[in-house]
Formats: sequence, C-alpha cells, structure tokens
Amino acid sequence: MGTVVITGSASGIGAATRTRVEAAGHTVVGVDLRDAEVLADLSTDEGRSAALADVLERTDGVIDGLVTSAGVGPPVNEHLVLDINWFGTEVFLTGLREALAASEGIAKVVAVSSNSTTTSPNTPDELIDALLAMDGASAHAQLEDLGDFVIGFAYAASKTAVARYVRRHAPTPEWAGSGIRMNAVAPGATMTPLLQGGLDDEMFGPAIKGFPVPTGGFGSPEQIATWIEMMLSDAADFMAGSIVFVDGGTDAMVRADDWPRTYNFDMGSLS
Ligand code: NAI
Repeated sequence: MGTVVITGSASGIGAATRTRVEAAGHTVVGVDLRDAEVLADLSTDEGRSAALADVLERTDGVIDGLVTSAGVGPPVNEHLVLDINWFGTEVFLTGLREALAASEGIAKVVAVSSNSTTTSPNTPDELIDALLAMDGASAHAQLEDLGDFVIGFAYAASKTAVARYVRRHAPTPEWAGSGIRMNAVAPGATMTPLLQGGLDDEMFGPAIKGFPVPTGGFGSPEQIATWIEMMLSDAADFMAGSIVFVDGGTDAMVRADDWPRTYNFDMGSLS
C-alpha cells in the first residue's frame, strides 16, 4: 500500500479515482480548491508552489503514485485553462519526480489528458511549444490572436502539452530509468461538473452534443477512474509513455487511419 497524490480530487474523475484508490488501501493526498488535504489554487504561481511544498512535506518526499486530474474546460476563461490544465499539471509532474523516484516500488504517474489532443482541429503548434518551453508570457500573448475558438485552442493545447510531456519524459533515464512509469489517460466526453458546464453553454453545448461518440452517450467518471487505477497498479509496470484513449471511440472515428490530417471544424462532416 502506498501514498497516492491526486490533484482535482474533490470532483469528477479525480474524486472517482480517489474512491477507488482508497478502497484499494492506499493513502490519498488530495489537492484541490476544497475538500482536500492540500487546499490550493493551481491557477497562480504562488498557489502551485505552496501546493507542491505542502505535498512534499506531508509525504516526507516519498510518493508511490500521482494522478493529475485538476482541470477546467469551456466556457471558463482561456487564460485559466492554460494556467490550471498545463502549468497546474507540469508543476506536479516535474516537482514530484524525485519523490516518485524515492518510492520503494515502481512508482506510477497518470496524467489526465484528453481526446481533444487528436480530435480538436488545427491546434496551434506554436502555442503547444510555448507551453512545453514553460514560456507563459508567450503562451498567454498568443491567445489574443486566436479568434472566436480561442477557448477550444487553449484547452486542446493544454492537454496536448500534457500528452507530449508524458511522451517525451516517460522513456528517459530520469523517469523509466528511475523506477517511474508515467502514462496518460485521454478521456472523451465524461459526465462531470466540467462537462455539464460546457453542455449548459450556448456556444459549446451544441458542439459537445454534436461531437460523435460511436458507443453513444457520455462516459462516467468511474469508467475513467477504473483505467487510472489499473495504470497505477502493477499492471502498468511494463508501460511507459502510453496515451490511453477512453472515449467511446471518438478518437478512432475522427482520426481513423489517415492521421495526421486536418479537417474543417464542421460537425456535420464528421457524423
Ligand atoms: P471536475 O470539474 O469534476 O473536476 C475538476 C477538479 O479540478 C475539481 O475538483 C476542481 O475543483 C479542480 N480544480 C479546478 N480548478 C482548480 C484550481 N484552480 N486549483 C485546484 N483545483 C482546481 O472535472 P472532470 O471532468 O473530472 O475533469 C478532470 C480532468 O479530466 C480535467 O483535467 C479535465 O480537463 C479532464 N477531462 C475531462 C473530460 C470530461 O469530459 N469531463 C474529458 C477529457 C478530459
């Protein structure tokens, strides 16, 4: 049994993961705005630094698992999307690496990405690159020029940066070579307060409802948490840098077998 840090543990996918991980006998250190061991606002530099320090103190610098689930989505402000979804994730991935390497067993990391990484069209590479370079000033400045779909670009860029971080670092000596298995889950539309916020929005509601889900309906937080729990378990000892899509087939349908490709953001052409 070990210590698992879960950001965004108070709601949705993070809360469902917390329930499963605790039922399996692990100790959870939750990080969230409310109802968590570590109360923190991950949208600010100060909040992120304080949260990281608090986590390290509570765990004595030894962590067996990490799940980064804190996040926001449309229709919240696009700057917040970058700050929470990317910077609020990167701080834990990078900042807890040594504590994960100090685990007695094989430590596991599951970053929560999204199927928007592959299904959201024309996400600007320059924005993703700025995020991965930790150039917040450039990333935020770029948002000013991205037009009406800026929130969609910000969301997909933040989640693509998370996926690329995982792909780039997971197989390296500092991660796989130091006893850490880092992977990502890429959920599709999952019925949580975050998704409900999008569904209730005048602009995003119809777009979300119109997006094809071959299995029908939306996923549940428990369906995503089941995979996260597996990716935290011994089953993932031989797994590093994988992005696991749990999305009812949307990625397979939209991306098919001629990826990479670009297409118009026209829902009608996808159904
Ligand atoms: P949720 O809204 O149920 O949970 C998100 C959690 O993050 C909440 O507990 C919230 O308080 C916390 N959080 C938000 N802002 C924060 C801040 N500034 N500081 C600290 N904590 C903060 O949402 P859900 O759906 O469970 O989302 C979890 C993750 O899954 C997110 O990263 C989201 O982008 C991702 N995701 C969700 C999908 C969906 O359809 N629900 C689809 C694909 C990815």
